[in-house]
Amino acid sequence: MISRPKGTNDLLPDNIWRWQKLEQLIREECARFNYHEIRTPIFEETGLFQRGLGEATDIVEKEMYTFDDKGGRSMTLRPEGTASVVRAYIENNLQGTGLPVKLYYLGPMFRYERPQAGRYRQFHQFGVECFGSSEPSLDAEVIVLAYSIYTKLGAKNVQLKLNSIGCPNCRPKYLEKLKEALKERRDSLCDNCRKRSETNPLRVLDCKEKDCQPAIAELPRITDYLCDECRDHYGKVKSILKLWNVEYVEDSRLVRGLDYYTKTVFEFLVESLGAQNAVGGGGRYDGLVEEIGGEPTPAVGFAMGIERTILAVGDSWQKDPDVDLYIVAIGDTKDAALTQLKLARDHGLKAEMDHLNRSVKAQFKQANRLNAKYCLILGPDELANNLVKLRNMQDGEEIQLSLNDWLGGIK
Ligand code: HAM
Repeated sequence: MISRPKGTNDLLPDNIWRWQKLEQLIREECARFNYHEIRTPIFEETGLFQRGLGEATDIVEKEMYTFDDKGGRSMTLRPEGTASVVRAYIENNLQGTGLPVKLYYLGPMFRYERPQAGRYRQFHQFGVECFGSSEPSLDAEVIVLAYSIYTKLGAKNVQLKLNSIGCPNCRPKYLEKLKEALKERRDSLCDNCRKRSETNPLRVLDCKEKDCQPAIAELPRITDYLCDECRDHYGKVKSILKLWNVEYVEDSRLVRGLDYYTKTVFEFLVESLGAQNAVGGGGRYDGLVEEIGGEPTPAVGFAMGIERTILAVGDSWQKDPDVDLYIVAIGDTKDAALTQLKLARDHGLKAEMDHLNRSVKAQFKQANRLNAKYCLILGPDELANNLVKLRNMQDGEEIQLSLNDWLGGIK
């Protein structure tokens, strides 16, 4: 027996309705915010992610599913959506469709990580990317779109963390100070942090090792080094969030795992999820479009982990009944049942009947199992008089109706 690959999931009918519910809400919310769907390939040239996400990120260093295709080109299963959407934005000249360009996507992503609860090798993201404006109102809009979805899902315990990590004007000065401080504390850091101190010092701030925390707590804070433009931008993002009643917590250690961010970064956390508690995150990336070969274009975006979001809130949701109507055929009434089944479906009802020659008792049991709201009962004597019975499965009440008019009875 061949099993599914480690870190992947089969989405089965008893859970997939949660996915569909979330996807429907996402599409409705995106329409309200004027974001439009884009679908890009699941694999891209490897160089796109190397250049886009940063060579010294965990994703590019060790988590990409990279392979040579039969033509000898290096390809990679997308580990996230932003780089692909930026590539598509440039390649399809989307700036010509009117700025800002507001896009969203839903689909599988692939990262070769150590699987655990909430962390998979194939997982799914909903993401939005907004191109062409550096206005803080769009940083706030992306945040409030995510916030609105979490709220509508009934998530009460989602915390929004917010930070600004500066721009190419102010960050180098901070990085210098950070490197100095890291050098002084080298002995108190784990091996990974020591390496990161050289290759990607910002990432040290994100280290989860307990022993590193005292040293990390003493490191300089990026928010103390922001240039006037970045400080002003950050202040405006915060004031718009306040205007829209979005609660947030500032965290000057929040840096995110990808190198393309400038200014605003944020994450949504659900403590009860344990180690993998980030249900979404994003930020501004004003340099990425140019980095990937386009005109300088400010941009901001966000992505939500679908699996983690469902783990966090999905248990409180109510499933809709599988069927509105179950047709119970007594005795030799199967042909009549088939006719009524088609009629019911043609009129938009979710309808089902027995296909296993079950006894009448077993047919009612099956109707209950499917949570049917009504049973249409066809008996030979009634049918001979053009009559049927309709049973309300909630209160058990039965009424007799004409064979030609039972649909009206349901309505
Ligand atoms: P990210 O923080 O790497 O950001 O991923 C976003 C979300 O995807 C995470 O918060 C988490 O919920 C989910 N996620 C990530 N890795 C896994 C995994 N292995 N298993 C399950 N869920 C996972 C990005 O990907 C950026 N592209 C977001 C963005 C869009 N920034 C700007 N625009």
